[in-house]
Amino acid sequence: MSVATNPSAPATSAPSEHAVSLTLSNIIQDYPAPGGGVTRVIGGVDLNFERPGINMLLGPSGSGKSTLLNMMGGVRPLNVKTPTSGLVSIDGQPCHGPHDDAVMVFQRYANRPDLTIYENVAFPFRFKLWRERVPEQEWRARVEHMLEAVGLADKKALHPAQLSGGQNQRVALARALVLRPRILLMDEPFGALDAQTREEMQHLLIKLYRERPCLIVFVTHDVTEALMLGDRVVVLSTQPATVADDFTLHAPRPRSLDWQRSPEAVALSERVLEQLHRVSAGKGSLRVTV
Ligand SMILES: Nc1ncnc2c1ncn2[C@@H]1O[C@H](COP(=O)(O)OP(=O)(O)OP(=O)(O)O)[C@@H](O)[C@H]1O
Ligand SMILES: [Mg+2]
Repeated sequence: MSVATNPSAPATSAPSEHAVSLTLSNIIQDYPAPGGGVTRVIGGVDLNFERPGINMLLGPSGSGKSTLLNMMGGVRPLNVKTPTSGLVSIDGQPCHGPHDDAVMVFQRYANRPDLTIYENVAFPFRFKLWRERVPEQEWRARVEHMLEAVGLADKKALHPAQLSGGQNQRVALARALVLRPRILLMDEPFGALDAQTREEMQHLLIKLYRERPCLIVFVTHDVTEALMLGDRVVVLSTQPATVADDFTLHAPRPRSLDWQRSPEAVALSERVLEQLHRVSAGKGSLRVTV
């Protein structure tokens, strides 16, 4: 997880989580090509996320999902300007770097091995910005609450090496949500977990989201995961990426196995798979699970 912190920002309290928007306007991204010149990876993406919701982002491997997500989180590579052109804005304001209300969670959960589970969840409060935003008594209460919420209260004195992969991802999720972010950016967060643990994490995310809704953009390769979690599903094409499909889902969560087998869900799954196969035909590689 990376926590977007800007120590020079004023210690304001965050606006309501219900008033949030994240907009990508005509995003183009060129990267240096191995043999010289440049490769256009993203070829004009416009996306607008207006309110709390779970937005799933799918696309072939190498289509630029992480590039887009990192851009939204203000995480910039060292070797190249991102975006090449276009604009990311949050709440209507241009955003050129890390934003204090946007927090990222990655597949590699980045827990500090030398710290206890409690200290890992409380880690953001080592930063001045968050200490100024949240009084100690409150952040300590939040850490305890998050440890409870992710089912690790009895493990708080242990270290990451003493936990399973799924439990470590719970720590990363707790560390992100303890900040009560208005925007949560997740890059294949459950991609390395076995099927059962992944399903448990999906249920946990739904529970935590219900407790405190925020604007989530969630990258996945798993079509079932996209349909089980998403209020909206966006499919990217590749080389260069554009938005190939974009639809909303209204079925209430958690979505049962029966729903998963319903004609609606089967049709949507086929629609996404068809798009993925179509856009990756002959270009890049397709890594899809269902
Ligand atoms: N900093 C960089 N410099 C040069 N090329 C890059 C850089 N970052 C990404 N790329 C290239 O841009 C393309 C898109 O990469 P990105 O990681 O965004 O794809 P992705 O959709 O997240 O892929 P995956 O599904 O495998 O995670 C790839 O071809 C990658 O090699
Ligand atoms: Mg990626």
